[in-house]
Amino acid sequence: MAVRVGVLGATGAVGQRLIELLDPHPDFEIAALTASDSSAGKQYRDVAKWRVDSPIPEDVAGMTVSATDPDEVSDDVDLIFSSLPSSVGAAVEPDFCEQGYVVSSNSSNARMADDVPLVIPEVNGDHLDLLEVQRDERGWDGALVKNPNCSTITFVPTLAALAEYGLETVHVATIQAVSGAGYDGVSSMEIIDNVIPYIGGEEEKLETESRKLLGSFDGASLELDDVEVGASCNRVPTIDGHLENIFVETTEDISPEEAAEAMRAYPSLSLRSSPDQLIEVFDAPDRPQPRLDRHVGNGMAIAAGGIRESTFGLQYNCLAHNTIRGAAGASVLNGELLLENGYL
Ligand SMILES: NC(=O)c1ccc[n+]([C@@H]2O[C@H](COP(=O)([O-])OP(=O)(O)OC[C@H]3O[C@@H](n4cnc5c(N)ncnc54)[C@H](OP(=O)(O)O)[C@@H]3O)[C@@H](O)[C@H]2O)c1
Repeated sequence: MAVRVGVLGATGAVGQRLIELLDPHPDFEIAALTASDSSAGKQYRDVAKWRVDSPIPEDVAGMTVSATDPDEVSDDVDLIFSSLPSSVGAAVEPDFCEQGYVVSSNSSNARMADDVPLVIPEVNGDHLDLLEVQRDERGWDGALVKNPNCSTITFVPTLAALAEYGLETVHVATIQAVSGAGYDGVSSMEIIDNVIPYIGGEEEKLETESRKLLGSFDGASLELDDVEVGASCNRVPTIDGHLENIFVETTEDISPEEAAEAMRAYPSLSLRSSPDQLIEVFDAPDRPQPRLDRHVGNGMAIAAGGIRESTFGLQYNCLAHNTIRGAAGASVLNGELLLENGYL
């Protein structure tokens, strides 16, 4: 029987992607949708300005949106996907967990909390067992698991693939699509014919979340990885797909050929939404590109290319679809991992 799921922030950019992925999902059944008080009580089709390429699913379009409050969501919902602004997530996600809901969240609140697993299943699925510590400490029947920021998800799998060479320092410059800011995030007057070399709070997220994801969990506590990460983030007028320029210094020398081989060999998983190949490496030096390559692995894979030696060790570019692999798809994958590991 399918697990009944709810979507918090269902009308937003990530919420719509969640609906697109969850509606045909064989293991999950959409049973509740929430948004702000101004959308509550109305039919989904009337409050969601549907912008996803595929048509709005008819059965979801007719559902009534609730206020984002656990008392407004039916008790028979087992799993909550959260795509709320982080200030709202910080206020309400603990209430859902306290009332017994398992929450797989995109929002940035609590990502770095000691007892909250921040998970990319292919990289650190074992960190999910931090939920036992979380339940002991917080006394929750429910649970809170986070996926990382969309730009963090884009480069961390490539670092994980290179980790055996000893990661020392990483510099990352991002070239991020407008959908990453949400539907009301950047005005057209700001972004058309422009590049904005600042995204509030983003650089710190890349620098800290990457060390948590690559860190080690001993069953009781989590130790951050020693790698030093420096980030610089830029918003550009592409719609979807974050491209990143990476420079990595490793303890052991690594040739571009070895790096490509390590990335190609890095394993995917057999969860329903896992891509067959997690990291697709292009040989052409001008790939990956957002418009051409954001849909690799149905938007769930990472594209890499332009691998070469540089003055600062190894250099390459990588790309991921920010609202699929970087957000909604990441949460769904964590939901599948929660299901596989018996947390639902
Ligand atoms: N976009 C991305 O690529 C991306 C990637 C990774 C993570 N994230 C994170 O995911 C979260 C959602 O991002 P988004 O891009 O989907 O944002 P968005 O398009 O602005 O959508 C926000 C959603 O939250 C609801 N909401 C706003 N204020 C609320 C309140 N006070 N109470 C309850 N619901 C409220 C909105 O409902 P109404 O329609 O009723 O206002 C809408 O459903 C953010 O935390 C973001 O940082 C986004």
